[in-house]
Amino acid sequence: MTSVLLVCLGNICRSPMAEAVLRHHVAQRGLVSSFQVDSAGTAAYHAGEQADPRTLAELARHGLRERLIARQVTDDDFDRFDWILAMDRSNLTNLRRRAPAGSRARLHLVLETTTGGEVPDPYYGGPDGFADVYDMLDASLAAWLDRWTAP
Ligand code: 4NP
Repeated sequence: MTSVLLVCLGNICRSPMAEAVLRHHVAQRGLVSSFQVDSAGTAAYHAGEQADPRTLAELARHGLRERLIARQVTDDDFDRFDWILAMDRSNLTNLRRRAPAGSRARLHLVLETTTGGEVPDPYYGGPDGFADVYDMLDASLAAWLDRWTAP
């Protein structure tokens, strides 16, 4: 079993989209019993809320419908997950700072497998931002799955 936690700031825009996209790739490859996928935010502002309607609309445009409820990262996450993938450098810095000593999760930027850059926060922009985020996540998460399943 490989476990993956996708992390952004609020857990309402980017990381819930990443969670749905990765789960979709996992299902398409017939790997549902081998992967556990979740998402969380470094901040608690939106904990308990549904994903942003623009994230849900973008996912629906690709035929993906999921119930995605925001939560904050917890200390346990750093031992429960093999991989924690951050959307941007600020998320990654916050995660590194709060990782309990000796915890096992490997912390990386999600776009490391494609451009190596950051997933821009689409919260204050229009719907195009959400479509761009979808495309970036789709490519980079497919490449992560290639890496995790490589012989
Ligand atoms: P996310 O986007 O980190 O991709 O979920 C944001 C959502 C909410 C806020 C910032 C970013 N906010 O400041 O409330």
